Amino acid sequence: MIIALKMVSANYSQIGKRPDESKSETTIIMLPSDANPKGNVFGGVILKHLDLIAGLVAKRHAGHANIVTASIDRMTFLKPVYIGNALILSARLNYVKRSSMEVEVRIEAEDLDIGQRVLTGTAFVTVVALDEHRKPIEVIPLISNTDEDKKRFHEGESRMMTRLKGVGRAVT
Ligand SMILES: CC(C)(COP(=O)(O)OP(=O)(O)OC[C@H]1O[C@@H](n2cnc3c(N)ncnc32)[C@H](O)[C@@H]1OP(=O)(O)O)[C@@H](O)C(=O)NCCC(=O)NCCS
Repeated sequence: MIIALKMVSANYSQIGKRPDESKSETTIIMLPSDANPKGNVFGGVILKHLDLIAGLVAKRHAGHANIVTASIDRMTFLKPVYIGNALILSARLNYVKRSSMEVEVRIEAEDLDIGQRVLTGTAFVTVVALDEHRKPIEVIPLISNTDEDKKRFHEGESRMMTRLKGVGRAVT
């Protein structure tokens, strides 16, 4: 309990975090229960892992908050994933608004027999931090020090404006 409290207060005192402080990668082997009878992994299984890693990245950034998914941008499955493949998801924060955050997730499938990886898709997930009353709560800023991080931040901001307009929300 004391440790948890210390972690919370440490997070509150931080003025921001860099994207590399929250980025994550996960590798999961695809099993028969993840696939149809012909061995193709279900899109829904991939979306579940996408949602999980996006939430993990946002949680690493936001710390104390409850994280929920507000939207997942259009996702195209470029290549099939089969039973026995390793599904590799790499996720990082691009943009932080107030309570909302854009997480970019890159999904690859690796044929473990030949050690070959293919890109299965890339998705942008918007997650929102909530307080204990389930109300949106401001999170610490994203610190962009490198040119790459700054570029991603501006692109993320622009996508967020388009995304919000697309669902008829006022852009603030
Ligand atoms: C996401 C949710 C919290 C937004 O609640 P709300 O009452 O509209 O709150 P607000 O208007 O204050 O918006 C909160 C933030 O969400 C963002 N947001 C809301 N809908 C969004 C959408 N479709 N896409 C991107 N961002 C969105 C807003 O822009 C705002 O961001 P900001 O604080 O950074 O400016 C609410 O719609 C919700 O709880 N949805 C269900 C989430 C969930 O349970 N997901 C799991 C699957 S069911």
